[in-house]
Amino acid sequence: MADSSEWHSVRRGRGTARKGKLSQPHRTQDEAVDRQRDKRRITEAINELRCEDFWPGWKEIMLKETVEGTDCFMECVCYGLGNFSSSVSARYQLAMLLLLLDALQIAVVQCSLYDPVFTVSECETLRELGFNVLSENEEGKRAVRHPTLFYLMHCGKALYNNLLWKNWSPQILPKVIIIGNSFLGIQERMLQRELDRDYSFLSDVTDVCEETSLPCSQRFLDVFNDTAVIRFPPHKLHKLPESIWYEPSEPQYEHCQDLEIIQQIRKPK
Ligand SMILES: C[S@@+](CC[C@H](N)C(=O)[O-])C[C@H]1O[C@@H](n2cnc3c(N)ncnc32)[C@H](O)[C@@H]1O
Repeated sequence: MADSSEWHSVRRGRGTARKGKLSQPHRTQDEAVDRQRDKRRITEAINELRCEDFWPGWKEIMLKETVEGTDCFMECVCYGLGNFSSSVSARYQLAMLLLLLDALQIAVVQCSLYDPVFTVSECETLRELGFNVLSENEEGKRAVRHPTLFYLMHCGKALYNNLLWKNWSPQILPKVIIIGNSFLGIQERMLQRELDRDYSFLSDVTDVCEETSLPCSQRFLDVFNDTAVIRFPPHKLHKLPESIWYEPSEPQYEHCQDLEIIQQIRKPK
């Protein structure tokens, strides 16, 4: 097998288009080099975000949320991060997630991630960073038992709606805290009747959730725009009619155009 210096010179000359022709040991070595590069870029992104004026704002808001909440978060779930090895936005979002976990003292291993577009190599990088990479597409339908922070950056409405459905009770929803797209913003951008028809859980809860906008600099607008911390305080949930909590039916999205979620492959009945 070639030593690493030999390997590097060969790799540079051939370019990525020919990776498919590499023998297995070379490909494995190549992927390991890519993962090292990705991890270095993530570290650089963390260092950049730490120097941004808006980072202390995020930290302060999130620490306040933790103190005011009933319990500390013990767990975090991130859906829809995207391809962080090729997308700069996704990489900064991952860097921000690592900063938040550190600030909130949530162990990285207590953070689960899933995105159906993750490559094998990205899953491996995430594992090397200490994350728990989920192998199953939960479609956001994760039942919460203790206070859990959900990190859903620029995700489709169906993911939020499914998460709300799965935890649809005035006792459980207060344990769900979301960093994601402002629900009020979603409501503003959609026809109310379509929100009611296709994303009824999102629509029902928008007026009683508590949102705190997270600040962002001009440079990072594409990455963190329209982002808020969203909570469901019990005293506000109790303003909703009792009947709203009975037997919530699972969302189907049959008539939904532009569905922004990748669903599980279902076996034909
Ligand atoms: C609009 S992109 C956002 C990507 C990235 N966070 C960003 O801001 O650039 C939505 C992401 O949700 C992911 N997604 C779709 N269905 C999903 C599912 N069932 N579970 C988790 N993520 C999903 C997509 O693959 C995609 O990466």
